[in-house]
Amino acid sequence: MTDALKLRLKNVIKFVPDFPKAGICFWDIMPIFRDPKLVTDLCNAIAAHLKEANPGGVTAVAGLEARGFLFGPQVAVLLGVPFIPIRKKGKLPGKVVEERYQKEYGFDVIELQEDALTATDKVVIVDDLLATGGTLRAAVNLVRKTGASVAEAFVIVQLNKEDGSPLYSEDLSDINVVHW
Ligand code: PRP
Repeated sequence: MTDALKLRLKNVIKFVPDFPKAGICFWDIMPIFRDPKLVTDLCNAIAAHLKEANPGGVTAVAGLEARGFLFGPQVAVLLGVPFIPIRKKGKLPGKVVEERYQKEYGFDVIELQEDALTATDKVVIVDDLLATGGTLRAAVNLVRKTGASVAEAFVIVQLNKEDGSPLYSEDLSDINVVHW
């Protein structure tokens, strides 16, 4: 991605303190989608990066509910591969594989349709944001349960600590994580 595109994204992504409740900081990427030219440039840049970084080719883009659905399908179309939704429990019909993971309070479960991926697939997982890494960790485990491999996990925003090191506490060392 060019520095110019990075700056355009920085200019519209908003940091919202105390949302959805006191003490929680929210990063709002929705303003990106008010600017069709920015969306086009972002999706083209992600697709170009994925082609260059994965010369063997990726065979599917898996997007995380909800904000991975905003740009994942467009990137998949540009690559000419299927888009696979990863959703919260109970939203996808048919046989599903599921992964349970720890949230700040309690557990959550994500699912994907069992027939969406096979062992020959090389999957890119996309989401808007990487914070604790819990969601991404679970998504990688979920994709691997189908026998498919994870070529890359791409997020638009990675949250960092004040010293610039990543905020995530999950072990993501077995995943190629790319963020902008
Ligand atoms: C947000 C975000 C990521 C996840 C990152 O989604 O879009 O999916 O949190 O957090 P983590 O790295 O700490 O797991 P959220 O769980 O709010 O779901 P939503 O997009 O469906 O609202």
